[in-house]
Amino acid sequence: MTTSHANSARSAALDMSAEEFRELGHGLVDRLADYYAALPQRAVTAGEAVDTIRAELGPRGLPQTGTPAAVVLARAADLVLEHSLHNGHPRFFGYITSSAAPLGALGDMLAAAVNPNCGGWQLSPMATEIECQAIGWIAELIGYAPGAGGIMVSGGNMANIVAFFAARKSRCDWDIRAAGLGDAGLGLRVYCSRETHTWVQKAADLSGLGTDAIRWIDCDTSQRMRVGHLRELVQEDRKAGLRPFLVVAAAGTVSTGAIDPLGEVGRFCRDEDIWFHVDGAYGAPAAVLPELAADFDGLAEADSVALDPHKWLYSPLEAAWTLVREPRHLTDAFSFSPVYYQFDEGEGWEGQNFYEYGMQNSRGFRALKVWLALAQVGRDGYANMIRDDIALAQRIFEAAAAHPELEAVTCGLSIATFRFVPATLDAAAPAASDYLNQLNQALVIALQRGGEVFLSNAVLGGNYLLRACIVNFRTSGADCDALTATVVEAGRRLDSELRPVALA
Ligand SMILES: Cc1ncc(COP(=O)(O)O)c(C=O)c1O
Repeated sequence: MTTSHANSARSAALDMSAEEFRELGHGLVDRLADYYAALPQRAVTAGEAVDTIRAELGPRGLPQTGTPAAVVLARAADLVLEHSLHNGHPRFFGYITSSAAPLGALGDMLAAAVNPNCGGWQLSPMATEIECQAIGWIAELIGYAPGAGGIMVSGGNMANIVAFFAARKSRCDWDIRAAGLGDAGLGLRVYCSRETHTWVQKAADLSGLGTDAIRWIDCDTSQRMRVGHLRELVQEDRKAGLRPFLVVAAAGTVSTGAIDPLGEVGRFCRDEDIWFHVDGAYGAPAAVLPELAADFDGLAEADSVALDPHKWLYSPLEAAWTLVREPRHLTDAFSFSPVYYQFDEGEGWEGQNFYEYGMQNSRGFRALKVWLALAQVGRDGYANMIRDDIALAQRIFEAAAAHPELEAVTCGLSIATFRFVPATLDAAAPAASDYLNQLNQALVIALQRGGEVFLSNAVLGGNYLLRACIVNFRTSGADCDALTATVVEAGRRLDSELRPVALA
């Protein structure tokens, strides 16, 4: 068999000359610079249907032969730039997906070019040290325990699930990693508020505990965990011979941005010897603000914290951290040392091998984009952006409260919820409540497809609400005013189409 490198330097199909790479790279960066500059002028989304997108992409079969890199890259740029939902648009208010820092895009390119494998220190010496430094910076940013450790993962689900497994290992008095759950494991119980994100169901399911092991704590009228109810359930379970091992408190719930009473929950967990985890996937970065110190009081006492830079630190996806007060809890829960790894080289080589701290072996250099952004703007830069986002959510809430056809419902961190209530609707009529839900749901769908503004929804007390979340450094006061104006205009139009005769 002859090969392309039998006698000389190899020429592989995927390789590229320095000149070609330079030309393609400059061309792409030019297009991206134009993309960023024109974002405010374009629609948030073209709202194209699945069939349209598939038709645009074309046939699904694998090409037998290749196409020049310049052609495929240009086509990919056309496809992605012209047929995406642009969450970096100033009028994107949906879910908790941030505008991504442009420096992060360049960071991802640098990371991919060098491609360090951040599973082992030896394979990623500078990258691992940058990741370690970034962990320290994040912990400092939110006032978490000095000496904390952690691991970078893909997103909030994973960050919380890693903490769940660390908690489970630390609170079992048998070797659960070898013996499995056994009879004792069936008694393990986890406690969290009804507003907790669904990662907790995934964790309970995947860990073998089952979702019935979750004890749901009621919330007060501000969607904060009722600690009295937590106490009652833990006592009840202890009496029944069960094993409470983990309490999850939220520092910013997914629907309304509520912060559970962290100090009170933390003290309870310490007294009861239960692992105290804070899901700060969304909200923890707001702990940087001195004016919110009282809300985040107790965060520093948590055994673990989940925090997603791809939410409120404006990092490109994917970037999340599990922080733990004592790093050994991660190695206790995840470490195995296979014979085929030779990463402990002796004195002078005591670097961190992240494959022992979590679920992945091979790991990308996700930390770079986060480290770059922290270095670019520092504590002050983040404090200012986060403070502005919170003020804008408040502006939306106040505008809704002041408008006769909007009902302002909640405002927590940078999330405002509200709904459209037509001025001429008799809200006391028997069918009015169902109709308002139907109308506001239709409104969210229409706005999401329309491309002028993008928001998502929340459901509170059976009421379907519009939900605007600002984790977007491009959003201005004018964009927020445009949001409420667009909601009212679309609301009136839909009401005229949908209102049943009985409610006319
Ligand atoms: C409080 C909270 N926890 C966890 C998650 C899950 O994060 P991800 O979507 O990055 O997995 C979210 C997502 O919005 C969240 O708001």
